[in-house]
Amino acid sequence: MGIDLSVNFNKIKLKNPILTASGTYGYNTEFDDFIDINKLGGIVTKAISLKPRLGNEGDRLFETECGLINRIGLENVGIEKFLEVKKPVLDENNIFYILNIAGNSFDEYFKLAHICEKENIKAIEINVSCPNVKSGCLEFGTDPKTLYKLVKGIRKRYKSFLIIKLTPNVSDIESLALAVQKGGADAISAINTVKGLGVKLDYINNKFTKSFVQGGLSGKCIKPVALSMVKRIKEAVTIPVIGIGGISNYKDVLEFMCVGADAVQIGTENFTNPNVTEIILKDLENFMRENNFETLEDLKRSLRL
Ligand SMILES: Cc1cc2nc3c(=O)[nH]c(=O)nc-3n(C[C@H](O)[C@H](O)[C@H](O)COP(=O)(O)O)c2cc1C
Repeated sequence: MGIDLSVNFNKIKLKNPILTASGTYGYNTEFDDFIDINKLGGIVTKAISLKPRLGNEGDRLFETECGLINRIGLENVGIEKFLEVKKPVLDENNIFYILNIAGNSFDEYFKLAHICEKENIKAIEINVSCPNVKSGCLEFGTDPKTLYKLVKGIRKRYKSFLIIKLTPNVSDIESLALAVQKGGADAISAINTVKGLGVKLDYINNKFTKSFVQGGLSGKCIKPVALSMVKRIKEAVTIPVIGIGGISNYKDVLEFMCVGADAVQIGTENFTNPNVTEIILKDLENFMRENNFETLEDLKRSLRL
């Protein structure tokens, strides 16, 4: 029996719901030795900003129990280089990708949206966890009014599939999700990383030495936070939701679909298990075959009864 795993988002159709999460999968063919990218629903690129960014100095990663803290600082090649070097590889290999975008001002986001429209990029995901430099570095994604203005402005300049990626580091996720919908986005993805702190502590020669790694927590330990956020978002809006956070096997995917996710992204688990996306896809398909689900839509319906 042929299993239909496709996800129809109207403006785009994914062959299946399994995507890679931004920042954990490079730009295009970095994982070629491990999986066949074309089997996936698509990849979400590392964040791209208007100008290249070097990222943070010092420790960038800190492993915790069942998770990872990162403070990469959005190191990336910038949009010009992306278009010149990375995009042709994606196009040549026929890889479906979603371009993840980061900015530090309305102007930067709007310029990037305009460029993506001009370059005919089929789908973009806006990382709103970036600090708005003009408003004293408050993140774009933490205030509904600011977020609405941002989404509306991007929507005006970019007509194809627009995803807004929400941060979980807020108390009222529902207002933010509603602001995104009102601003005209096509979908919401959630969650970005959870604020966390790693402490490096040693006791040498009767003295403590310590250092801190303050950044975003990801991986298995954040799955319950992500599930809660996806459920709350889904109950607040009617646009599709893409679930992200701590997914490491197909049962996690079922859990996310159960609370309302239409597709999922897999991040940190790629570092431990570089072919996890293909395994998840195969296991999901096998589960559906063994249990007589012909389409992903049937499976989602049954999960949400
Ligand atoms: C090393 C690293 C880099 C990341 N870079 C980005 C990024 O550039 N843009 C973005 O929107 N999210 C970024 N994220 C967040 C992930 O895309 C994802 O939302 C988060 O890690 C939760 O999913 P996970 O638990 O499956 O990793 C990054 C995460 C990690 C671990």
